[in-house]
Amino acid sequence: MSKRQLAPAIGTSEQQYWRRKPVLFAKEYLSVNPWKKQQEILSAISNHNRVAVRSCNGSGKTFTAALATIWWLMTHDEAIVITTAPTERQVQNLLWREIRGIYLKNGDLIGGKITSTRLELSSNRYAFGFSTNTTERFQGFHNENLLIIVDEASGVKEPIFDAIRSCLTTANAKLLMIGNPQNLSGTFYDAFHKTRSQWETIHISAFDTPIFTREIAAHEPPPPGILTKEWVDEIAGFAGEENSRYQIHVLGEFPSQADDTLIPLKWIEQAADRHFDPDDEHDTVMGLDVARFGDAKTVAIVRRGAAVVEMREFPSAELMETTGRAQELATEHDVKTIFVDQVGIGAGVEDRLKELGITRVVGVNAGLKASNSERFSNLRAEMFHGLRQRFADDDIAIPNDPELISQLASLTYTYTSRGQLQMQSKEQIRNSGLPSPDKADALTLAFTAPEPPPEPELFAFPLTREGVESYRRRFGKSSNH
Ligand SMILES: Nc1ncnc2c1ncn2[C@@H]1O[C@H](COP(=O)(O)OP(=O)(O)O)[C@@H](O)[C@H]1O
Ligand SMILES: [Mg+2]
Repeated sequence: MSKRQLAPAIGTSEQQYWRRKPVLFAKEYLSVNPWKKQQEILSAISNHNRVAVRSCNGSGKTFTAALATIWWLMTHDEAIVITTAPTERQVQNLLWREIRGIYLKNGDLIGGKITSTRLELSSNRYAFGFSTNTTERFQGFHNENLLIIVDEASGVKEPIFDAIRSCLTTANAKLLMIGNPQNLSGTFYDAFHKTRSQWETIHISAFDTPIFTREIAAHEPPPPGILTKEWVDEIAGFAGEENSRYQIHVLGEFPSQADDTLIPLKWIEQAADRHFDPDDEHDTVMGLDVARFGDAKTVAIVRRGAAVVEMREFPSAELMETTGRAQELATEHDVKTIFVDQVGIGAGVEDRLKELGITRVVGVNAGLKASNSERFSNLRAEMFHGLRQRFADDDIAIPNDPELISQLASLTYTYTSRGQLQMQSKEQIRNSGLPSPDKADALTLAFTAPEPPPEPELFAFPLTREGVESYRRRFGKSSNH
C-alpha cells in the first residue's frame, strides 16, 4: 500500500470543520446526494450522542449508516466504528455492501483498505462489522472517538445493548440505532417511549421517502431497494391500513397490535424468508379451503414436510370445476392426502374427490370439538394453535405472499368463559371488514389438520347389504338402533 493511501485525506485542522458538516461532507467528498431524511439523520449524529431512527422499509437508512461510518473515520485522527445487526447477512450483504459501494467509488480519497466487513485507514482508525450473536465482541475497544451503529435495531437482543452501553463511556462516544419498529419492548422501543428524553429520535414514513417527496423524479429509475408507490399500494390493498404490517413497514410506526394477535408478524415474515429443501421423508399433502360465498375464493396449499411447495387459488367456481382443479393439482404434486374443509360447498367437493378415488381425502370440520377440549373451544382453535407453534419453532416455510402474510398476521384469539382458547371465526373476520382468511385456512388445513383415527378393519369394506348381513351373522346384533 502506498503512503499516499494511508495518509489522512483531510488535514487534522479541517477535520473539526467537517465533523460539524456531515451532509456537506457526503456531497463534497463522497459525491452522493443524501435525501432530506438522510440529511436529518447525519446532522443528528453530528449533534447528539444517542440517535434512534424508526423507519419504513426501503428509505435508505442503511445507506445513511454507511455514509456515517466513512464520515466518522475521515473526520477523526483516531476513531473506531463498530457496526452490527441481528444477522451476519444483514451486516455483510446490507450495511457493508453499502460501505463497500461508497468506498469503491471514492477509494483514492478515503485511502486505507477494505475487506468484506472491515475498513482500515490505520491501526487506530478503523471500522468493522459483526452480527450481534455474542456480547464479548464488544469488549476492549478503548477509543475516545467511538461510533456504534446498530442496523435493524428492533431485532437486537437486550444483552447486546447492555454490552454496547458499557462501551459508551467517553464524551465522544455515539450510538446510532436504526430499524423497522417491529418489537414492542426493548432498548429500541424504549428510545421512543420511556427513555425518549435521552435520545434524538427520527421517524421516517413511506411518505417521507424520495419517491413520494419527489427527491427522485418520476422519470428517474430509483435505486433497487428503494420503496415504491406500487409496493405501498400493495400492502395497503391486502393488509388494510390498520394492519400491523402496514403500520410497521409503510408508516414506520410501532404496531398498535393488541396482545390478542395469534402469530406475531415477525415470525410470519421469518417463515416467508425461510427456505427448506424439499425432503423425501414426508408425504406431500394438500389443504383445500373451499369458497363458501360468492366473494371468497378456493385456495389449495400443497406442503411437504415443513415447506409449502405450492399455493394456488381457484376462482370461485362451481363444485365440479373446483373438484377437477383440486384433483389436477394433487396429481401434479403426487399428493397423498387432501384435507378439505367440510363446511358448506366443501362437503360436496369432499364427496366428489372421494368418488374420483384417486387421492385419499379427509374432510375436516373445524367447528367440531377439539381433541383437547379443555384448552380449545373447537378444532379450528386447536389447529391454528398448532400452526402458531410451527411458526414459533421456526419449523415452517411459507410463500412470500403479501395476502397470506397479512391474513396470518390478522388472526386474533380470545378466551371463552371456561378459559378455552377461541379463534375469531371467519364470519367475524369478514364482518369486521377484513378479507376472508382463505389462504390462512388452507395453510392450517395443510399443516395441522388431524388425521382421522384408523377405521376399524370391519368397516374397511363398503357398507353393502351383504356386509351388514355378515356383520349380523358374526355378532348377532340387530341393525336397529
Ligand atoms: N442518497 C442516495 N443516493 C443514491 N442511492 C441511495 C441513496 N440512499 C440509498 N440509496 C440506495 O438505495 C437502496 C436502498 O437503501 P437502503 O439503505 O438499503 O434502504 P433501507 O435500509 O432503508 O431498506 C440501496 O441500494 C442504496 O444504495
Ligand atoms: Mg436497511
